Amino acid sequence: MRICMVGTGYVGLVSGAGFAEMGNDVVCVDIDKAKVERLRQGEVPIFEPGLDELIARNVKAGRLTFSDDTAASVASAQVVFVGVGTPPRSDGGADLSAVDKVAETVAANVKQETILVLKSTVPVGTNARARRIVAKAAHPIHVVSNPEFLKEGEAVNDFLRPDRVVLGCDSDDTFARDIMARLYHPVCLDKDRIIWMAPASAELTKYVSNTMLAMRISFINEVATLCEKVGADIHEVRHGVGSDVRIGPKFLYAGPGYGGSCFPKDVQALVQTGREHGVEIDLAVSTHRVNERQKGLLPRKLKTHMDGDIRGKRVAIWGLTFKPRTDDVRESAALTLIDVLLTEGAQIVAHDPEGMPKIREIYGDRVQLVEDAYEAARGADALVLLTEWRQYQNPDFDKLKSLMKRPLLLDGRNIWSTYGLRGQGFHYEGVGVRS
Ligand code: UGA
Repeated sequence: MRICMVGTGYVGLVSGAGFAEMGNDVVCVDIDKAKVERLRQGEVPIFEPGLDELIARNVKAGRLTFSDDTAASVASAQVVFVGVGTPPRSDGGADLSAVDKVAETVAANVKQETILVLKSTVPVGTNARARRIVAKAAHPIHVVSNPEFLKEGEAVNDFLRPDRVVLGCDSDDTFARDIMARLYHPVCLDKDRIIWMAPASAELTKYVSNTMLAMRISFINEVATLCEKVGADIHEVRHGVGSDVRIGPKFLYAGPGYGGSCFPKDVQALVQTGREHGVEIDLAVSTHRVNERQKGLLPRKLKTHMDGDIRGKRVAIWGLTFKPRTDDVRESAALTLIDVLLTEGAQIVAHDPEGMPKIREIYGDRVQLVEDAYEAARGADALVLLTEWRQYQNPDFDKLKSLMKRPLLLDGRNIWSTYGLRGQGFHYEGVGVRS
């Protein structure tokens, strides 16, 4: 099948390369000429495990190409996917101008009956809005909503082995249903994995999924705070609670607050959609508020250990990205910690396996970045761990102790909580853990 993927961001690149891998003929389009040129040279602009190889393999096989000519690319495609950005507006709603533009370009250029698939995260009503835009095109255009559920760091695997594929499509639209079913067949051999529903339901499913996951995290973070007060341990509580099959153990890890480009934005967008329709989604409002408070937890703990004064103190940070296996620092708890430390006059020395270039772009030389994680700890008054990268899981604690000025470890991910570090001469504190 001939596919055009508009937008070579995270969603577009992973999905475009994924569809090419399944034997389709895919052109990935972007208006950013320089980016397209880099992609043509084999340079992948995002860090995502396995993506470089996936792209290279399919380019070599002639199934995957890149173009900056949207009009020509959409004209020759049977299916056009929209994976462009929908950045938040100041009122929390999504800016849909890029999606509108793609729909207009498709409407103006189609040469055959075409399917327009909305893959970007878009508010309820966008499918209907796109239908209005393409209504007068020279050939029929079927609009399908197909939200994506890729996780950064695991996106390639998530695409090729999805839990489910949600397709919002009119029940009587057999043209679109047949083609979409064929397209996803290779990754959904088990037919139940494709879930058909009304377009508005598909649009809402995306926001509700992310908000539900974010809600679990905010709830467990509040419980972790209570654990510290009552002498309970969040690991034990999570194990006990998560063993109920109705609840399950996933997304119940306490931490420094969720980040990334999705949860914070989507929780807010659901609140906004509710308000536009006169529904106050209180739990989503609280989920966001709790998370904002949680991002201040590590800075608060740090200050408490420094008797309220962190001016001039040297603070080491391990982990800057919002989660491991990505170079993305958007909405990361590290940004909150760095902002507090800079405002209060502390000195910051940080390390991250992939996130340092992005931090350098934001903070310049106000944050000292080091290539060797132990170097960050040299002479430090505290070490704060914020991202659970594998390489931080089992460090040489004797070396750390000898390097640090004060052996204070604040573990924002509870990865060292079972090591008995307090007995080894450290001041150790996690998030809701006893030992
Ligand atoms: C999230 C969803 O998990 C994907 O299904 C969805 O497709 C994606 O958003 C999106 O909308 O595009 P992602 O943002 O890549 O994926 O990352 P997650 O693995 O969900 O983690 C989000 C944040 O929650 C991270 O900061 C992570 O550290 C935090 N988290 C996660 C916790 O604090 N505790 C947990 O138990 C799990």
